[in-house]
Amino acid sequence: MESDVVKKTITTTSPEETQALGYALAASLRGGDVVLLSGTLGAGKTCLVTGLAKGLRVRSSVSSPTFTLLHTHAPQDPNGLFLHHMDVYRLNDADAFLHLGFYDLIAEDAVLFIEWGCQVRDVLPHDVVEIRLEQLSDDVADDDCRYVTLEAPLSKADRFVKAFEDWEEGHRAADDF
Ligand SMILES: Nc1ncnc2c1ncn2[C@@H]1O[C@H](COP(=O)(O)OP(=O)(O)O)[C@@H](O)[C@H]1O
Ligand SMILES: [Mg+2]
Repeated sequence: MESDVVKKTITTTSPEETQALGYALAASLRGGDVVLLSGTLGAGKTCLVTGLAKGLRVRSSVSSPTFTLLHTHAPQDPNGLFLHHMDVYRLNDADAFLHLGFYDLIAEDAVLFIEWGCQVRDVLPHDVVEIRLEQLSDDVADDDCRYVTLEAPLSKADRFVKAFEDWEEGHRAADDF
């Protein structure tokens, strides 16, 4: 199983950089993609989705769906992708994900991003992508660096790795100024 997954880690050094990664990701997405976002509270999961929403050019702005579980953002372009943004931290039981009908969110005209998604992984398709955000140091409250690790199945690796590489490229270009 492990060898069927492609991994790539980058480091962002500010919330803006994590948003820029989300923005870059938007260009690589296809309808039906499911992405699990993992990492502790404050790791930057919602921050990544904020940049993603800009890249997808959705109509509404992103806030944390902590209490409602789900926010759906419609695209401005009629041919664009819907963004379903979930936070399943409060969903104790993976089966509840199915019972509440959330599986139907996986559709050709939409992408599904799930904060704390590992909690419901067992009831999701096998080809989900995981993006893990980690603060570099536990004890430095103001540390703005994050490791961002992509784990993509081979069938999706090219597209997602490209997004990470595009971010690196843009990052290097920005450094040149
Ligand atoms: N490199 C970084 N990437 C993302 N967020 C960062 C970074 N550095 C600092 N932050 C801060 O960390 C917090 C992340 O919050 P949020 O995205 O809501 O986290 P989560 O959804 O994982 O709980 C924000 O206050 C953001 O400004
Ligand atoms: Mg969040």
